[in-house]
Amino acid sequence: MSIDVRPSEDAARFLATDQLVWFGEVGEADADHLRLGLPEDQRFVVDLPDGPDDRHSGIYGVRPMELALPGGALVPIAGLTWVGVHPDVRRRGVLSAMMADHLARTRDAGLALSALHASEQGIYGRFGYGMAALQLQVHLGRGTTFTAPHLEDEVAGTTTHLVDSSAPGATDRWRDCALAHAPDAPGTVVGSSDFIRLFGSESDAELRDKERRRILFARRDGRDTGAVMFRREHKWDDARPSGTVTAGLLTGGPAARLALLRRLVDLDLMGTTKVEAVATDDPVLDWVGGPRGTGTVKTWDSTWIRVVDLSAAWSQRTYEDDCDVVVEVADRHAPWNAGRWRLVASGGEGTASRVDAPADASLDVAVLGAGHLGRSVANLLRAGLVQEHRPGAYAALSRALRTAAEPEPSFGF
Ligand SMILES: CC(C)(COP(=O)(O)OP(=O)(O)OC[C@H]1O[C@@H](n2cnc3c(N)ncnc32)[C@H](O)[C@@H]1OP(=O)(O)O)[C@@H](O)C(=O)NCCC(=O)NCCS
Repeated sequence: MSIDVRPSEDAARFLATDQLVWFGEVGEADADHLRLGLPEDQRFVVDLPDGPDDRHSGIYGVRPMELALPGGALVPIAGLTWVGVHPDVRRRGVLSAMMADHLARTRDAGLALSALHASEQGIYGRFGYGMAALQLQVHLGRGTTFTAPHLEDEVAGTTTHLVDSSAPGATDRWRDCALAHAPDAPGTVVGSSDFIRLFGSESDAELRDKERRRILFARRDGRDTGAVMFRREHKWDDARPSGTVTAGLLTGGPAARLALLRRLVDLDLMGTTKVEAVATDDPVLDWVGGPRGTGTVKTWDSTWIRVVDLSAAWSQRTYEDDCDVVVEVADRHAPWNAGRWRLVASGGEGTASRVDAPADASLDVAVLGAGHLGRSVANLLRAGLVQEHRPGAYAALSRALRTAAEPEPSFGF
């Protein structure tokens, strides 16, 4: 049975479906999350003939976002989000139909990549998404010492300033900072101004007793050089203050980040600073002398990337090593990518062309997504997840995809 996916015409029904799937507390602010976070023409729905009467069978949405690639290009991408299938009709192919629809629309819109954060790690690999960036969550104790002798001059000229995230223009300032820094931090994802504004416009009902997010800006020579959003939470242990600072959406160069972190771990009445998402090779671990210089370090998957248009995607980014490899690409859900491609990286630039020559390696399109932001995918041969027909060919491909720095993780979207 073919499942029809069509644009949403009923925002209330779309929202009600999401509220059921995600079973959170329903609040007035939910409508704002939809209005500001998801353009009306980027909401799609499924209604199965025997599906629920009062809600959709499935929904999904696309946030227009920008992604920084190796080499510094900032490209528009489709940020897949609001994916949900009514519990009554799960495992009947609704998600599969929505994914086929999403990939076709993304290609028609001329976008080479789709990106997402996965609610569960087992869902999206089958649809060709690869785990492209990991993130660390790092807990730092009050007064943690950071050692970075060659950054100190720059840090000395950097000041930090606290701003309410709801202040006019505050989230746009954060966004400008992220955009300016993105080319130096491949993997950075930046959402629309409306979407970022949501981070500073939580309603009183959402906040309850929580502090509204603040933004700490780092400034040097009269310009913003970095920023982080955070909020504090009170806690008292045997009359001793031991609150938690939760810090996310950290952006800026190394000196700005160092100045921001030093300020965060020095906030009064706090015991721990929880830095939500940094790259797996973030300098913070070196500044504190290794993982044992932190409270805890946890890791999980951040951005998943789907190469929707292989040829366009291959030439959007740059390469730190050369390769010339013929790969047989399996792509069940975007058949226009499937088949044999000659992937060349030379002098930093990439070209992908269709060929009939025998394949040097066979892989699923998800492997190209996993390596697209520069994370190493060399181990996938050892893991038995790719097949090599010419010894050394896959190693050459994975060396070309790899970048010296690990990709920057993105905030959940
Ligand atoms: C995850 C979800 C969208 C799946 O929708 P669905 O319509 O049941 O999925 P489909 O029937 O199209 O399943 C497609 C395939 O994915 C698999 N799959 C679906 N959900 C899965 C999960 N959570 N983990 C692993 N595999 C999953 C199915 O088994 C099926 O596999 P097959 O192709 O080998 O047969 C749905 O269960 C849901 O809404 N969950 C709660 C919200 C959520 O997690 N949304 C995702 C946000 S990122």
